[in-house]
Amino acid sequence: MKVLITGANGLLGQHLVKLLIESTDYKITATGKGVSRLTVDSSNRYKYVSLDITDGVEVNTFIAQNAPDIIIHTAAITQVDDCEKDPVHCWNTNVTATRFLVGAAEMIGAKFIYISTDFVFDGEAGPYIESDIPAPVNYYGSSKLGAEKSVIEAKLSWCIIRTVLVYGNILVENRNNMVSWVQNNLSQGKSIQVVSDQLRTPTYVEDLAKGILMVIQKKAIGIYHISGDELMSPYEMALATAEYLHLDKNLIEKVDAAIFKQAGKRPAKTGFVIDKAKNELGFKPLTFKEGLKKML
Ligand SMILES: NC(=O)c1ccc[n+]([C@@H]2O[C@H](COP(=O)([O-])OP(=O)(O)OC[C@H]3O[C@@H](n4cnc5c(N)ncnc54)[C@H](OP(=O)(O)O)[C@@H]3O)[C@@H](O)[C@H]2O)c1
Repeated sequence: MKVLITGANGLLGQHLVKLLIESTDYKITATGKGVSRLTVDSSNRYKYVSLDITDGVEVNTFIAQNAPDIIIHTAAITQVDDCEKDPVHCWNTNVTATRFLVGAAEMIGAKFIYISTDFVFDGEAGPYIESDIPAPVNYYGSSKLGAEKSVIEAKLSWCIIRTVLVYGNILVENRNNMVSWVQNNLSQGKSIQVVSDQLRTPTYVEDLAKGILMVIQKKAIGIYHISGDELMSPYEMALATAEYLHLDKNLIEKVDAAIFKQAGKRPAKTGFVIDKAKNELGFKPLTFKEGLKKML
């Protein structure tokens, strides 16, 4: 089965390629912006191709030529404040490019798996189930919801996997995630301010990759919430990380989100109810402590 992955240089993309090449069932084409930053040492098991998803002509030509059976679309502008500051760039990458990919997938009848976010919700009534009504509070969330709508309206087999605050090993130089940020700062003796008035169900990146594989194997369609199963604040995550690594917890200052002057508003209480993924896919995430142990 031919699988095309967008955003292969990203946190999820790297781990997804690593997982999928373990199986001989899949012939992987990993794509990303610019040169490959993949570190997985199995170049005979996948090919990397540079593909700027905002170039509609390139997307159409490439997908028509490669004719994948499945497209897993992880690429996006994922920084909330960047989306707020440059909404045109955000919309072009997160929505218009998704439409290019969906249109090309329709032409060849590929299945489309789209990775979305808890930030499509307003954070007033989390944790959320799949049928809850989205109401994003920032531009990033609006763009991801706009992309979801394009996928849902497409004339193809689709699955939208929403996830929450992903953490895990950075396989190559990349932006920090919550756990690596805490580790980097505390191990250098630097103090950090971490919010305690937001709640999430943090997701171990390898669990997310496995959840995507389950969607492929079970031929699942529709929307699935795939995340960790524990509702916790970033402050609690930071404390657990410091404790696990025997780093100085006194360097962690508990703060409210209101003290930060951020361009994009963050939803207060998101997190997911993951019963559908558990029951229909057999998804079973690690606890946060187990995720830390595997990661660190
Ligand atoms: N990480 C989280 O906490 C989280 C939470 C909820 C949902 N999600 C969703 O999960 C997905 C994966 O997230 P992630 O953390 O792996 O993101 P990431 O590490 O930021 O990776 C996203 C990738 O998209 C690529 N990209 C951006 N613009 C592109 C373009 N024009 N053409 C081709 N590739 C482009 C980036 O390439 P460059 O590196 O070259 O710029 C980057 O490698 C995203 O769709 C995100 O919205 C993530």
